[in-house]
Amino acid sequence: MCGIIGYCGPKQAVEVLVEGLKRLEYRGYDSAGIAVGFKNEVTVIKKKGKIKDLRQVIPDGIKGNYGIGHTRWATHGSVNDINAHPHSGCAGKIVIAHNGIIENYTGLKEILEKEGHVFKSETDSEVIAHLIEKYYTDDLEKAVKEALSILKGTYGIVCINPDEPDRIIGARNGSPLVLGVGDGEMFLASDVTAIISHTKQVVYLEDGEVVSIRPDGFKTTDLNENRIEKDVEYISWELEEIEKNGFSHFMEKEILEQPEAIKRAISGRVITDVASAHLGGLDLTTKELLNIERVKIIGAGTSYHAGMVGAYLLESIARIPCVPEIASELRYRNPIIERNTLYFAISQSGETADTLYAMRELQRKGATVLGVCNVVGSTIARESDGGVYIHSGPEIAVASTKAFSSQITVFYLFALLLSRMRDMSYEQGIDYIDNLRSIPAKMDEIFRKRNEIKKLAEKYAHYKDMLFLGKGINYPVAMEGALKLKEISYIHAEGYTSAEIKHGPIALINEETPSVFLVPDGGLKEKVISNMKEVKAREGKIIAITVEGDDSVGEIADDVFMIPKINEIFYPFLLVVPLQLFSYYCALELGRDVDQPRNLAKSVTVE
Ligand code: G6P
Repeated sequence: MCGIIGYCGPKQAVEVLVEGLKRLEYRGYDSAGIAVGFKNEVTVIKKKGKIKDLRQVIPDGIKGNYGIGHTRWATHGSVNDINAHPHSGCAGKIVIAHNGIIENYTGLKEILEKEGHVFKSETDSEVIAHLIEKYYTDDLEKAVKEALSILKGTYGIVCINPDEPDRIIGARNGSPLVLGVGDGEMFLASDVTAIISHTKQVVYLEDGEVVSIRPDGFKTTDLNENRIEKDVEYISWELEEIEKNGFSHFMEKEILEQPEAIKRAISGRVITDVASAHLGGLDLTTKELLNIERVKIIGAGTSYHAGMVGAYLLESIARIPCVPEIASELRYRNPIIERNTLYFAISQSGETADTLYAMRELQRKGATVLGVCNVVGSTIARESDGGVYIHSGPEIAVASTKAFSSQITVFYLFALLLSRMRDMSYEQGIDYIDNLRSIPAKMDEIFRKRNEIKKLAEKYAHYKDMLFLGKGINYPVAMEGALKLKEISYIHAEGYTSAEIKHGPIALINEETPSVFLVPDGGLKEKVISNMKEVKAREGKIIAITVEGDDSVGEIADDVFMIPKINEIFYPFLLVVPLQLFSYYCALELGRDVDQPRNLAKSVTVE
């Protein structure tokens, strides 16, 4: 979703801003713009479309050592040059870029218009520039604070005024903003990927904080002028992790990174001596862990699917009642917080508004909510009552892949920890750990055969609809397969538990609607085969993903892809990979924008 970059220092701001915006592209956007200050003048350039379109309208040789930039994902007002950020007040001096939503902008706009302010865009954000302009006398920081104190809603903002050159004011309330501390230069950004090529020293701003930066330093305060001392933290991500490094797409790179990501998620967390797991960030004593009577997992999109796998696992092996829930629903059904219930908020970015707000609602009611996040320092990671980082490394492609595998790895570890406190024997624990550790190599075996999946994608990419069907712990994987396909190829796809097709979806089956069946070995295999036969009887084409050496499925399916054998509760790891590759190759076959699919955003920071 929207991205922010700000810079002041000795470099030409245009270059830093445009590079920052390029690195924010992955978040999803529809227009972009920059404002560059040179001494007491500021130039604003905005363009609908991609950063390359913006690049083309930036005049050569434009000079300036401070400025702000923005990628917009439209919420209020259509996608056009005028609605793109940055926005200016009437005099064109106060210039802002904003992430978030200003809820009381209509009333404020009316008042400001009566006072003579002339608005140019349809956005909620422009009101911020006019409000700051209204309050400005000679101190930008003071005017920003006055304006913010009457705004309602969420914001991450950056603001400049060429009357105070080489200075940027930033503030956050609900939308992330991070300060990058360089050597004689300072940065502000909505996420660290925009600045990591310049500095790895960062300060994460909290809600209600305002920062004033100049090339040689920064000052953090709250809206009441109280000084706030901030720690400078160090980002461990390497620049090469946010670059494609020879791959055609980030998505391909990230799919192939899964074995390493899983190893990182496991690293240091398995205690072989006692066949258990240690998740220090949970911050729960053994007694507290034993007292857990229920677990609830909330998330959105792919993270929700990972939560479904986690819930199935915890209930089936740790024998703890566990339910997953879509975060956006939880907040509005006035949830009852039951005693001894542990909540997980699961989010790759740690910034998804639906999950964050649901977490806050739970915490407000007294629940303990643990975060399962990838992005270090993200809002959910900081506001949760403890949690686990999945250590996937940066995930840039909009469609989430490696985060899913790493998220479920964390739940497999948590399930091991709880199970070993209850019914699981030492021997079973060792066997479980061996299975978990065998996954990266088995994924590599699948990658070696990925050409087979490419051929399947070439054969099936031109269908308009597809069903993805699995059962038990693999049902969420079927849903994830369908989500991946629709996200990046725009083929209509739905994921169901295979038995459910009889109750409606089977009406869709004919020779034009293929089904992808997940049929690994295990207790439910024969049930899934029965469902396959029901589809076959109606002339539905079938791609089956089954286990090496199992020829029984091939007799029914039109096409088969075989994955390595593993203990049946671990199949989600191995089944999801061919589905990710299948959607990737379908999108390639259809010429889609794989990493930045239309209408989608990587991190959805509005409800
Ligand atoms: C967006 C992305 C999805 C992602 C979901 C949840 O919708 O496009 O790929 O699964 O947000 O994101 P999170 O960062 O909370 O895991």
